[in-house]
Amino acid sequence: MANLDPASIPPADVAHLRTAARLAWRGHGRAEPNPLVGCVVTDAEGRRVGWGFHARCGGPHAEVNALVRAGNAARGGTAYVTLEPCAHTGRTPPCVDALLRAGIRRVVIGRADPHPRGGGGAEKLRAAGVEIAWATPDSLVLAPAAAFVHRLRTGRPFVTAKWAQTIDGRIATAAGVSNWISSERSRRLVHRARGRVDAILTGIGTVLTDDPQLTARGVRVRRVARRVVIDPQFRTPMDAQLVVTATQTPTTIIGWAGDGGGRGERRVALAAAGVDVIPLGEPGEDVPLDTALRLLVERHDVTKVLVEGGAGLVGRLFDADLVNAAWVFVAPRLFADDDAVPCARGRRVVKLAEGIPLRLNGHHVRGGDVLLRYSVASAAAGPS
Ligand SMILES: NC(=O)c1ccc[n+]([C@@H]2O[C@H](COP(=O)([O-])OP(=O)(O)OC[C@H]3O[C@@H](n4cnc5c(N)ncnc54)[C@H](OP(=O)(O)O)[C@@H]3O)[C@@H](O)[C@H]2O)c1
Repeated sequence: MANLDPASIPPADVAHLRTAARLAWRGHGRAEPNPLVGCVVTDAEGRRVGWGFHARCGGPHAEVNALVRAGNAARGGTAYVTLEPCAHTGRTPPCVDALLRAGIRRVVIGRADPHPRGGGGAEKLRAAGVEIAWATPDSLVLAPAAAFVHRLRTGRPFVTAKWAQTIDGRIATAAGVSNWISSERSRRLVHRARGRVDAILTGIGTVLTDDPQLTARGVRVRRVARRVVIDPQFRTPMDAQLVVTATQTPTTIIGWAGDGGGRGERRVALAAAGVDVIPLGEPGEDVPLDTALRLLVERHDVTKVLVEGGAGLVGRLFDADLVNAAWVFVAPRLFADDDAVPCARGRRVVKLAEGIPLRLNGHHVRGGDVLLRYSVASAAAGPS
């Protein structure tokens, strides 16, 4: 793939692609498991004449929506699209054909489509005489389709770990109290995120301490997230909120295989209450989180997971290199208590270099808290 030299990309191209990326997010929660894609169309003079995004799975793609808005003005113009236009007929006809029919002369692409059938659109356009320009990697432009690309390349969902902490990195008091460390505005943002992901993952420690509902409340819900608990011994109480609401909001509990220690009976009772029960891993060992995540893709078509677990789960996920992004709400509070619950645990770090590197992608002040948004720069975690 011939990337443009950064110096040679006209600032207007970057601006249009970034606009397309912002548009792409409008489909968040409705387009998945398809990628979030945005598109801007300019006319032959470089004036913006069309824009669009992939609004829902099965609906028209971003390019088609942008071309419809642009109409005849697209002839001789440029299409800026965050993901390589598709060349195959899926639920909708190929976008490559729509671009050619509209008379687009140049296409600027944010990232390649690794889909075995969807990819190859750029080559087809080039063969038909359209000028193709690949944008240099830009986290803003790459982000909308990151989950789609990650799932395709790794077979795992895109995992965002979220927690609220004091400025000294504690997520609960020594007694386990964490309601509420963050502000109401921060929590509202979390509910919004819950209403857009496929699954919310937590650990048995959090279930036993907080008895959470893990539903999106007080916001517009775009999709209902499956609640998933890592509970090796199936200790989730039958009167836990997650269990009593399992017939209304899907719930999965993943714990050790085998029936020892009463696990068999507890599994049967949980299943009878409507819980999707997955036996996984050997008793006494860690539940293999990599496999658990793959199972969520295979069984429930999960593309995006929001982790709302405690230190044990979050530490294990980071240690196994399974976290793609982190949302850290830092509340203006200090515990200075060694026994308070840290945001993650389970690793031993001797050298500074052994710390897991993260990249700060953005920060926002919300109701007195600071939300820090990170991506995890690791090969195993796939693309950002
Ligand atoms: N402020 C926040 O954002 C926030 C969010 C969530 C929870 N919390 C707080 O965090 C505290 C709970 O922390 P926690 O660390 O106990 O909660 P947790 O991470 O939800 O659950 C930890 C428990 O799950 C087990 N576990 C997790 N992953 C496992 C795996 N792959 N295999 C086997 N066992 C696994 C752990 O086993 P081991 O005992 O062997 O490690 C431990 O028993 C509560 O006080 C809660 O209020 C705060």
